[in-house]
Amino acid sequence: MRKKIVAGNWKMNKTLQEGIELAKEVNAKVKGLNASQVKVIIGTPFIHLAEVTKQVDPAVVSVAAQNCATEVSGAFTGEISAAMVASTGSQYVILGHSERRSYYGETDEILVKKVARALENKLEVIFCVGEVLAEREAEKHFDVVKSQLVNGLFNLSADEFSHIVIAYEPVWAIGTGKTATSAQAQEMHAFIRKVVAEKYGKEVADNTSILYGGSCNAKNADELFANEDVDGGLIGGASLKAEDFSIIVAARAKH
Ligand code: 13P
Repeated sequence: MRKKIVAGNWKMNKTLQEGIELAKEVNAKVKGLNASQVKVIIGTPFIHLAEVTKQVDPAVVSVAAQNCATEVSGAFTGEISAAMVASTGSQYVILGHSERRSYYGETDEILVKKVARALENKLEVIFCVGEVLAEREAEKHFDVVKSQLVNGLFNLSADEFSHIVIAYEPVWAIGTGKTATSAQAQEMHAFIRKVVAEKYGKEVADNTSILYGGSCNAKNADELFANEDVDGGLIGGASLKAEDFSIIVAARAKH
């Protein structure tokens, strides 16, 4: 059975003190929901990880980094390795987010290395894919997403792939308030599962959690999560408010 997941991506928001407060609030609210069947993850900035992992109950909230280095260690000023992330007690890392692909030039080749470093350090990977508006308008969205999966992930063995969560985040829906329709999300999620099944078989595909991200909020989460292939969400803006985030967790627990 694949996991139901609601993951927050705080992006570059919150000072350390604000982040600790938010993490505590999220932990308290989610604990109160008794939503033990939903895996709740918060993706914080690097500097928050060591402290936030101490502030949350690991049975309630898991912690993710938003990136890691391609290299193992050494003279790479300003980089943070997967081993360092793991040493904070974080269990997840978000990789391939569209903001990293577009603003920081992360290519498929770079992502292959980052995924390898993450898995070597026993981190679970939330791997983001998604098309830009022009690609959807040109009806290339399926090709784009397939190519991101094939080139970023399909070098993995089936065993390694079992540590991957996929997040479909159409770039035109991120931070825009313009959510994919429920039908658009379901259509792409089913497609992703089919592509995974073609490579790794039906059992692996059925066990892969596929999250939707892009203006998912307290109002629309319920409708999105009602879809068979939408296993949860990767939440940006709405993860910065404990109340909204917990409503989204409750919506996931409901279905
Ligand atoms: P928003 O929920 O703010 O649109 O961001 C989505 C996202 O990029 C999560 O990784």
